[in-house]
Amino acid sequence: MRNTWDFYSTQRIVFGIGAIQQLDSILKSFKAKNILLITDPGIKQAGIVDRVLALLKRSNYETVVYDKVVPEPPVESAVDCYEFAKSSMKIDVIIGLGGGSSIDMAKIVALLETHGGHPLDYYGGENQVPGPIAPLIAIPTTAGTGSEVTSVAVLTDVENNLKVGISDNYLRPIVALLDPELTVGLPAYVTACSGIDALSHAIESYTAKSYSYIQAEGNLLFQGSIPISDVLSYRAIELIVKNLALSVHQGTNLEARSNMLLGSLLAGMAFSNAGTAVAHALAYPIGGLIKSPHGEVTGLLLPYVMEFNAVVETEKMIKISEAFGLNIKGLSKKEAALTASKAVLNLLKEIGLPTRLSEIGVKEENIPEIVEKTLKIDRLVRNNPRMPTERGLEELLRKAF
Ligand SMILES: NC(=O)c1ccc[n+]([C@@H]2O[C@H](COP(=O)([O-])OP(=O)(O)OC[C@H]3O[C@@H](n4cnc5c(N)ncnc54)[C@H](O)[C@@H]3O)[C@@H](O)[C@H]2O)c1
Ligand SMILES: [Fe+2]
Repeated sequence: MRNTWDFYSTQRIVFGIGAIQQLDSILKSFKAKNILLITDPGIKQAGIVDRVLALLKRSNYETVVYDKVVPEPPVESAVDCYEFAKSSMKIDVIIGLGGGSSIDMAKIVALLETHGGHPLDYYGGENQVPGPIAPLIAIPTTAGTGSEVTSVAVLTDVENNLKVGISDNYLRPIVALLDPELTVGLPAYVTACSGIDALSHAIESYTAKSYSYIQAEGNLLFQGSIPISDVLSYRAIELIVKNLALSVHQGTNLEARSNMLLGSLLAGMAFSNAGTAVAHALAYPIGGLIKSPHGEVTGLLLPYVMEFNAVVETEKMIKISEAFGLNIKGLSKKEAALTASKAVLNLLKEIGLPTRLSEIGVKEENIPEIVEKTLKIDRLVRNNPRMPTERGLEELLRKAF
């Protein structure tokens, strides 16, 4: 039995409509002159890069821009970005501007700038980063990953058909700057995928096994559910279930966008301490096999994982049903708990996302490989409230076909 828990987060979080205007004063607090901005072509096309560059120009920062990040970035593209950074000037501060893909790329470049090596040197277990990384300001343009406050950076290992995560408290950006206005132009499909990812973070950390019962030694990054993460993740669930469909169908609804950005932030603070569980563990090998966005895969799996877990985490599943505003009076506890997974399945349909693995190109013959790889991701598997056996996971996946 583990008796103590820890909570880490990003040092400074600046949040609000128009918050991007504070970038200059944030940079001044670092006495920064030379800036590397890491972003992607979609953010550029949406006019967000120009907005940020105009702000930087006003105060005469020397800025170099890497705008070639691809969604779900492969390991090699992180190396390419690092080579670009090395060949430019000496950098004081790195800005990651975009969704999880751009922010994660910025984390890895900030890591390699300081400690050198190759991204895969830091993969394998938690706490592989030897010390602080270069100062990193994260500016999210999606409401999803929470990467602006998390200890995680995810890449795709194309050779081994697997998504790989580097996890370390040193990877948390030093400042998270969140302006909901930057998310207003996010296309409906990306809003849906990233938003359901945030809900998966919130639900998986809320229903994770209690930290007391996690069977592992030493300092854990993903500790199981702890009192602080419970509060953060439940509030995140409330915000996301009330605002996700609204922000998908009314992209310009700034209040809904703002609530989604707050929800994804709180979920990021929660899951980067409590950890996620089997929906994310399954999504890693599946994300290596097919090209779907991370959120689409995790969100699709979420209701099936919740159904699998409902027998063990009954009370918390009932609380999730309540967050959806469902009438559960007169239902048995088991039925009330299962209502939560049905509500998530409905939400997927409402926001136009697939609900079956066959729809995203997974084949039934892939099941054994997926299960085998999933069970190896111990730090997520051990967090799941119900023990995931080979047979249990196979059944779960068959239901999702
Ligand atoms: N670090 C973490 O803690 C963490 C957690 C979960 C997922 N992830 C990873 O994050 C990645 C997914 O990130 P994501 O869901 O934020 O999407 P993303 O960064 O991959 O972006 C998806 C697409 O949306 C576009 N886009 C983003 N913001 C936009 C805007 N405001 N307007 C117009 N277009 C915009 C981008 O150009 C891109 O084409 C995956 O690699 C996933 O594995 C990381
Ligand atoms: Fe995720």
